[in-house]
Amino acid sequence: MNLLKEEALWFIKNFSGQLKTEDTAIICQSWNQLDKYLEHLKEAFSFYSAIHAIAIKTNPHPEVLRYIVSKGFGLEAASMEEVEMAIEAGISTEKLVFDSPVKTRAEIKKCNEKYAGIKLNVNSLEELNRIPDNPNFSLGLRINPMVDAGSPDLYHVSSDESKFGEPISNDQAIISACQQFPITQLHIHSGSALGNLEVATAAIAAVVALANRINVQLELASKDYRIKSIDIGGGLKPEKLGTDLSQMKQYANLLVKNVPDLVNFELVTEFGQWCHFYCGFAFSTVEYVMFRGKKQLAFVHLGADYFMRDAYVKPRGIEFICLDKEGKVNDGEKHTTDIAGPLCFAGDYLVKDIPLSSLSEGDILLMLGTGSNTYGLWSRHCSRTIPKVVGVDFEKLTFTLLSERIKLY
Ligand SMILES: Cc1ncc(COP(=O)(O)O)c(C=O)c1O
Repeated sequence: MNLLKEEALWFIKNFSGQLKTEDTAIICQSWNQLDKYLEHLKEAFSFYSAIHAIAIKTNPHPEVLRYIVSKGFGLEAASMEEVEMAIEAGISTEKLVFDSPVKTRAEIKKCNEKYAGIKLNVNSLEELNRIPDNPNFSLGLRINPMVDAGSPDLYHVSSDESKFGEPISNDQAIISACQQFPITQLHIHSGSALGNLEVATAAIAAVVALANRINVQLELASKDYRIKSIDIGGGLKPEKLGTDLSQMKQYANLLVKNVPDLVNFELVTEFGQWCHFYCGFAFSTVEYVMFRGKKQLAFVHLGADYFMRDAYVKPRGIEFICLDKEGKVNDGEKHTTDIAGPLCFAGDYLVKDIPLSSLSEGDILLMLGTGSNTYGLWSRHCSRTIPKVVGVDFEKLTFTLLSERIKLY
């Protein structure tokens, strides 16, 4: 049995006594899984001097951020609010990357005055005009590599007209800007759910080549700073870690092979969904079940409010397991099943047409692989309450309440 499933079944059995009537769903964070993914990431990039700044937006729960920081990892903030959340989680600013594409002048000023050392990446050459003289932060510039690294359309950020980054084709202007402003980091994030790691690696190689060219010019101009960090962003799809060579290690190995000069720089990464996806599980009671023809239609209490991406885009591979009221797996005869969420709109389905055992009122639907882009994307649509979040340590056989239910009205 997979470990996350084993952990979830153990938890449900031991936690069910504490469920109150209003706890129609519970969101869980697996600390052991998170440890496993963070350690694997560190190991994959052990050839480098690296800061792994985990993307906050993927799972912004304050306790999860605190945990990541306590393990020595960095955080990547996509808004000033996320910067402040990271500070509250106890991060040291050198490990905090600030990437918002729409920083206000006031936010930049605040970073300069309060968060010395933070890595602030501007999104374009235009944004450089907002940077104070001799900033107290490390200044980075996001480069649009102008490649198609196989991200689905919604997550593709590197097209010619992308709102993200300075197009790499403006290399002369970039080199001039680096002589005018103390830029010490180049940043690239080719897209999410990258389908082609060779292309993604080639894009990083182009950015490293640009950094080398910039450094030659800085030397010639007798500047006292250099590009010293390359921030490669995130972008890997979630994967189950097993005995095979992981996608993350293959990616790191490709970088070593295809971008030999990268070792001369400090490496910054910003992985999100790869780190979190398999670190979460959730469960909901089944409110009721209908049959439409031969199809089973089960209504549960987490829908497009929690599974925004699954409902609005397409199911991302979350695994559904039917349990009875006591939390025992129901492995009976399978029916073609749709799982409907609780929101009052036609698109609120977690998944359609999957084979599942018979469900009935009061049963439990367990969902594995809920750790990324779920809690952080919670939608107010229909104003439903955010469920309790519980942290589980399966090695120590303990669990703790991380947050109470949050009412939105
Ligand atoms: C700048 C930046 N870095 C990192 C990430 C994390 O990406 P992923 O979850 O695909 O690893 C994102 C995602 O949107 C991003 O925009």
